[in-house]
Amino acid sequence: MVPSRQLVARAPGRVNLIGEHTDYNDGLVMPMAIDLETRIDFHSTDERVVDVTRTDTGDRALIDLDERATPATGRRGDWTDYVAGTAWAIEAAGGQARGFVGVLGGDLPIGQGLSSSAALELACAWALSGGQPPLADRLAAARACQRAENEFVGVPCGILDQFAVAFGVRDAALLLDCRSLDHRLVALPPGAAFLIAESGMTRELRGSGYEQRRRECEAAAAGLATIDRSLRSLRDATPELLERAGDSLADVLLRRARHVVTENERVLATARAFETGDLAAAGRAFLASHASLRDDFDVSVPALDRLVEVAASVPGVHGARMTGGGFGGAVVVLADATAAGGVAAGIRAGYATADGREPVVREVRASDGAGLTAMPRWTA
Ligand code: GLA
Repeated sequence: MVPSRQLVARAPGRVNLIGEHTDYNDGLVMPMAIDLETRIDFHSTDERVVDVTRTDTGDRALIDLDERATPATGRRGDWTDYVAGTAWAIEAAGGQARGFVGVLGGDLPIGQGLSSSAALELACAWALSGGQPPLADRLAAARACQRAENEFVGVPCGILDQFAVAFGVRDAALLLDCRSLDHRLVALPPGAAFLIAESGMTRELRGSGYEQRRRECEAAAAGLATIDRSLRSLRDATPELLERAGDSLADVLLRRARHVVTENERVLATARAFETGDLAAAGRAFLASHASLRDDFDVSVPALDRLVEVAASVPGVHGARMTGGGFGGAVVVLADATAAGGVAAGIRAGYATADGREPVVREVRASDGAGLTAMPRWTA
């Protein structure tokens, strides 16, 4: 048997530019894949075992794909669930998972709302597929990875993260309709820079208010459907319908619904603003999105509010907002490209993490979605 080649599977993180907590309401989102990524340096084997070592912790895991073939028997409650879960979901979708020996590393930070989970799943999907494109197409792979996270890992996320990680395109954002799953590219204006500022508070979706928000959105949709029977999800709600609902809907549910309705409008406004190069308008939408997530959706925390406030006060910044699920994580900042260096320095100087440190602030660029890195080359 010819030994299989050494390959490197890579999957970028993502930043959601706008459209937060809309994906599971069949709404609109606009993420971009970023130039921070998870990598698996691997070679495939003929065994049904994944032998993988993490570079960050040094942990090594031997994952028997047959022993861990279903969520019921395979879940361990640790990071290896992402590997076993992705293998399960690929096979459930009609693909085949092969074992590999690999090293898992990269520069994508974990727990900062940049989708390290989806990146791990998509990188695993490529490694488990022996370096061939997993499943029939990107959408099938993204959906399988979402299923791995929902049903194997046990986190009820929407499609946003896996879609962005699979479909990312250099220099563009993705405008995705989470109902039809149609998307189009939105070119990012050359004069715009995007920075990610980490609050220093790590977050986890499991056990956070995330599941509660999903339930509240379902309850709000059920309440609104008694007024408009054609409504299937909050995606179908309009400002007029919310007006008509008035007191018949509990205040908290009305606020959740209002966030979703207004956020979908802001996604479209931001796409138009990018397409016309109107960074000021896009910045206003970012700030309005943050206010809505803070006041109506209640997923911000004081550290994120403060970070947004600091960023917005730095010269050259058009807007900033929390990005991802909330309850900690990071803020995305829209700035003039010519000012990016000064903006990063201004944010570092103006915000301190809970333990008194400077926040990590990075400029990120829209990047291509998951795949293999260039083939290995001779070095001599
Ligand atoms: C997390 C989830 C996504 C999405 C966002 C909120 O990142 O994984 O599916 O719901 O929160 O927009």
